[in-house]
Amino acid sequence: MKLFKNQLKIFSCLSFLLISGGVVKAQKETMEQHKRRWDTPAWTDTIKNPLAHVAAAADSGKVTYLKICSVCHGNGGKGDGVAAAGLAIKPANHTGPNVQLQTDGSLFYELSNGHAPMPAYKTILTEKQRWQLICFIRTLKPKTKEK
Ligand code: HEC
Repeated sequence: MKLFKNQLKIFSCLSFLLISGGVVKAQKETMEQHKRRWDTPAWTDTIKNPLAHVAAAADSGKVTYLKICSVCHGNGGKGDGVAAAGLAIKPANHTGPNVQLQTDGSLFYELSNGHAPMPAYKTILTEKQRWQLICFIRTLKPKTKEK
Protein backbone atom coordinates (compact mmCIF):
# COMPACT_ATOMS: atom_id res chain seq x y z
CA MET A 1 0.00 0.00 0.00
CA LYS A 2 2.79 2.37 0.98
CA LEU A 3 4.59 1.57 -2.22
CA PHE A 4 1.44 2.33 -4.18
CA LYS A 5 1.09 5.70 -2.45
CA ASN A 6 4.64 6.59 -3.32
CA GLN A 7 4.08 5.60 -6.90
CA LEU A 8 0.99 7.76 -6.97
CA LYS A 9 3.01 10.68 -5.61
CA ILE A 10 5.69 10.24 -8.23
CA PHE A 11 3.06 9.91 -10.92
CA SER A 12 1.23 13.10 -9.95
CA CYS A 13 4.54 14.92 -9.65
CA LEU A 14 5.51 13.83 -13.14
CA SER A 15 2.18 14.74 -14.67
CA PHE A 16 2.36 18.14 -13.00
CA LEU A 17 5.77 18.70 -14.55
CA LEU A 18 4.51 17.58 -17.94
CA ILE A 19 1.45 19.80 -17.82
CA SER A 20 3.30 22.87 -16.54
CA GLY A 21 6.02 22.24 -19.13
CA GLY A 22 3.35 22.24 -21.82
CA VAL A 23 1.90 25.52 -20.57
CA VAL A 24 5.28 27.21 -20.58
CA LYS A 25 5.87 25.92 -24.08
CA ALA A 26 2.49 27.16 -25.28
CA GLN A 27 3.26 30.70 -24.11
CA LYS A 28 6.53 30.83 -25.97
CA GLU A 29 5.68 31.52 -29.56
CA THR A 30 8.33 31.00 -32.19
CA MET A 31 8.69 33.56 -34.97
CA GLU A 32 7.21 31.07 -37.46
CA GLN A 33 4.18 30.45 -35.26
CA HIS A 34 3.83 34.18 -34.72
CA LYS A 35 3.88 34.94 -38.43
CA ARG A 36 1.37 32.17 -39.08
CA ARG A 37 -0.96 33.43 -36.35
CA TRP A 38 -0.75 36.96 -37.74
CA ASP A 39 -0.84 35.69 -41.31
CA THR A 40 2.02 38.04 -42.14
CA PRO A 41 3.14 37.23 -45.70
CA ALA A 42 6.84 36.51 -46.30
CA TRP A 43 7.10 39.25 -48.96
CA THR A 44 6.65 41.88 -46.27
CA ASP A 45 10.25 41.15 -45.22
CA THR A 46 11.44 42.73 -48.46
CA ILE A 47 9.71 46.10 -47.95
CA LYS A 48 12.32 48.73 -47.14
CA ASN A 49 11.67 51.40 -44.51
CA PRO A 50 12.01 54.68 -46.47
CA LEU A 51 12.76 56.57 -43.24
CA ALA A 52 15.30 54.12 -41.80
CA HIS A 53 18.11 56.69 -42.03
CA VAL A 54 16.11 59.81 -41.23
CA ALA A 55 17.29 60.85 -37.78
CA ALA A 56 14.16 62.79 -36.76
CA ALA A 57 11.71 60.05 -37.80
CA ALA A 58 11.82 58.21 -34.47
CA ASP A 59 11.10 61.45 -32.57
CA SER A 60 8.00 62.12 -34.66
CA GLY A 61 7.01 58.49 -34.19
CA LYS A 62 7.34 58.85 -30.44
CA VAL A 63 4.85 61.75 -30.41
CA THR A 64 2.25 59.63 -32.23
CA TYR A 65 3.06 56.60 -30.09
CA LEU A 66 2.49 58.42 -26.81
CA LYS A 67 -0.77 59.85 -28.17
CA ILE A 68 -2.45 56.71 -29.51
CA CYS A 69 -0.41 53.54 -28.94
CA SER A 70 0.73 53.79 -25.33
CA VAL A 71 -2.82 53.39 -23.98
CA CYS A 72 -2.40 49.69 -24.83
CA HIS A 73 1.34 49.22 -25.36
CA GLY A 74 2.52 51.43 -22.47
CA ASN A 75 4.84 54.45 -22.61
CA GLY A 76 7.91 52.21 -22.69
CA GLY A 77 6.34 49.76 -25.18
CA LYS A 78 6.29 46.83 -22.76
CA GLY A 79 2.62 46.04 -23.49
CA ASP A 80 1.51 47.40 -20.12
CA GLY A 81 -0.68 50.37 -21.04
CA VAL A 82 -3.76 51.26 -18.96
CA ALA A 83 -6.10 49.44 -21.37
CA ALA A 84 -4.01 46.25 -21.44
CA ALA A 85 -5.62 44.70 -18.36
CA GLY A 86 -9.03 44.62 -20.03
CA LEU A 87 -7.85 42.86 -23.19
CA ALA A 88 -8.05 39.09 -23.59
CA ILE A 89 -5.12 39.13 -26.02
CA LYS A 90 -2.34 41.17 -24.49
CA PRO A 91 -0.71 44.00 -26.41
CA ALA A 92 2.67 43.05 -27.87
CA ASN A 93 5.81 43.90 -25.92
CA HIS A 94 7.66 46.10 -28.40
CA THR A 95 10.93 45.72 -26.53
CA GLY A 96 10.89 41.89 -26.80
CA PRO A 97 12.46 39.59 -29.40
CA ASN A 98 9.18 38.64 -31.14
CA VAL A 99 8.92 42.26 -32.26
CA GLN A 100 12.56 43.34 -32.45
CA LEU A 101 13.65 40.31 -34.50
CA GLN A 102 11.06 41.04 -37.16
CA THR A 103 11.85 43.13 -40.20
CA ASP A 104 10.57 46.72 -40.50
CA GLY A 105 8.41 45.58 -43.42
CA SER A 106 6.70 42.87 -41.39
CA LEU A 107 5.97 45.26 -38.50
CA PHE A 108 4.70 47.88 -40.94
CA TYR A 109 2.29 45.33 -42.42
CA GLU A 110 1.04 44.32 -38.97
CA LEU A 111 0.59 47.93 -37.91
CA SER A 112 -1.29 48.71 -41.14
CA ASN A 113 -3.59 45.68 -41.13
CA GLY A 114 -4.05 45.13 -37.40
CA HIS A 115 -5.05 41.93 -35.62
CA ALA A 116 -8.01 42.17 -33.23
CA PRO A 117 -7.93 43.71 -30.67
CA MET A 118 -5.00 45.55 -32.28
CA PRO A 119 -6.61 48.15 -34.58
CA ALA A 120 -5.65 48.50 -38.27
CA TYR A 121 -3.99 51.87 -38.89
CA LYS A 122 -3.98 51.81 -42.69
CA THR A 123 -6.71 54.43 -42.96
CA ILE A 124 -6.10 56.19 -39.65
CA LEU A 125 -2.42 57.10 -40.08
CA THR A 126 -0.50 58.11 -43.20
CA GLU A 127 2.20 55.83 -44.56
CA LYS A 128 4.81 58.30 -43.33
CA GLN A 129 3.37 58.29 -39.80
CA ARG A 130 3.37 54.48 -39.77
CA TRP A 131 7.05 54.32 -40.81
CA GLN A 132 7.90 56.91 -38.16
CA LEU A 133 6.28 54.61 -35.61
CA ILE A 134 8.39 51.69 -36.79
CA CYS A 135 11.50 53.88 -36.39
CA PHE A 136 10.41 54.68 -32.84
CA ILE A 137 9.70 51.01 -32.02
CA ARG A 138 13.31 50.27 -33.07
CA THR A 139 14.57 52.64 -30.37
CA LEU A 140 12.79 50.45 -27.77
CA LYS A 141 15.18 47.57 -28.38
CA PRO A 142 17.00 46.88 -25.11
CA LYS A 143 20.62 48.04 -25.27
CA THR A 144 23.13 45.21 -25.03
CA LYS A 145 25.81 45.80 -22.41
CA GLU A 146 29.05 47.25 -23.77
CA LYS A 147 32.01 44.95 -23.37
C1 HEC B 1 -6.61 48.79 -28.33
C2 HEC B 1 -5.26 48.52 -27.90
C3 HEC B 1 -4.14 48.75 -28.89
C4 HEC B 1 -3.77 49.95 -29.46
C5 HEC B 1 -4.41 51.32 -29.27
C6 HEC B 1 -2.60 49.66 -30.26
N1 HEC B 1 -2.29 48.33 -30.20
FE1 HEC B 1 -0.73 47.38 -31.12
N2 HEC B 1 -1.36 45.61 -30.41
C7 HEC B 1 -2.42 45.44 -29.55
C8 HEC B 1 -2.56 44.02 -29.26
C9 HEC B 1 -3.60 43.40 -28.34
C10 HEC B 1 -1.55 43.35 -30.00
C11 HEC B 1 -1.29 41.85 -30.05
C12 HEC B 1 -2.32 41.17 -30.92
C13 HEC B 1 -2.01 39.70 -31.12
O1 HEC B 1 -0.96 39.22 -30.70
O2 HEC B 1 -2.84 39.03 -31.72
C14 HEC B 1 -0.81 44.40 -30.71
C15 HEC B 1 0.25 44.16 -31.55
C16 HEC B 1 0.99 45.14 -32.20
C17 HEC B 1 2.09 44.90 -33.11
C18 HEC B 1 2.55 43.57 -33.59
C19 HEC B 1 3.71 43.10 -32.83
C20 HEC B 1 4.03 41.69 -33.10
O3 HEC B 1 3.99 40.93 -32.14
O4 HEC B 1 4.34 41.32 -34.23
C21 HEC B 1 2.59 46.12 -33.48
C22 HEC B 1 3.77 46.40 -34.41
C23 HEC B 1 1.80 47.11 -32.82
N3 HEC B 1 0.82 46.49 -32.06
C24 HEC B 1 1.99 48.46 -32.94
C25 HEC B 1 1.09 49.41 -32.48
C26 HEC B 1 1.24 50.83 -32.72
C27 HEC B 1 2.43 51.47 -33.42
C28 HEC B 1 0.12 51.43 -32.22
C29 HEC B 1 -0.26 52.89 -32.28
C30 HEC B 1 -0.42 53.46 -33.60
C31 HEC B 1 -0.70 50.39 -31.62
N4 HEC B 1 -0.08 49.18 -31.79
C32 HEC B 1 -1.91 50.61 -30.97
C33 HEC B 1 -3.24 46.41 -29.02
C34 HEC B 1 -3.21 47.74 -29.36
